[in-house]
Amino acid sequence: MLAVSAACERNKGPILEVLTGTLAGSRTVLEIGSGTGQHAVHFARHLPHLLWQPSERGAELGPLAERIRLEGPPNLRPAIALDVRERPWPVAGVDAVFSANTLHIMAWEAVEDFFRGVGAALAAPGVLCVYGPFRYRGAYTSESNAAFDRQLRERDPASAIRDCEALAPLAAAAGLELIADHAMPANNRTLVWRRAG
Ligand SMILES: C[S@@+](CC[C@H](N)C(=O)[O-])C[C@H]1O[C@@H](n2cnc3c(N)ncnc32)[C@H](O)[C@@H]1O
Repeated sequence: MLAVSAACERNKGPILEVLTGTLAGSRTVLEIGSGTGQHAVHFARHLPHLLWQPSERGAELGPLAERIRLEGPPNLRPAIALDVRERPWPVAGVDAVFSANTLHIMAWEAVEDFFRGVGAALAAPGVLCVYGPFRYRGAYTSESNAAFDRQLRERDPASAIRDCEALAPLAAAAGLELIADHAMPANNRTLVWRRAG
């Protein structure tokens, strides 16, 4: 049976609303850390002008590949192995990169690799959309996010909700400018960076 993430079921509608506007002018999208593939299937189905490339770390690839094989629409490509820490990434020249709930899971060094990799993979013009919980100037946006961060760190000391300002120099080094910060349900955000043409 295919794995189902309840969070994905809840957040895929609100994220799709943001992506519908943000990716209107894009054609190719690379998704990092696609997880169960529920997002990839939903977004590819509702945004048929896109060619959606899902990816996962090699060890987690099996269930993702299975969902895409069973449920994927024609514009959803087979999943590929991609760990943000590898160099170079196996994909280049994409119009957009999307990732949900990954930056607080991976270690800070991998977050640095994420932005370096996006900088190399993204065409110009291009956009990066990242969904998840964030802090601002060290402050949580809610008590539930503070509790979630404590849980994350207990499970893995390298995980943590990332500070939006700490991402700024990484994005700048990748040639990216923050152009939108959408408030999302359950105290999450969708951050959008653009690389100018
Ligand atoms: C909380 S899950 C989110 C999955 C999915 N995007 C979602 O929203 O349900 C975090 C994901 O980050 C991925 N991840 C963690 N470290 C990674 C890395 N170094 N490179 C690529 N993906 C990574 C994990 O494999 C996992 O699928």
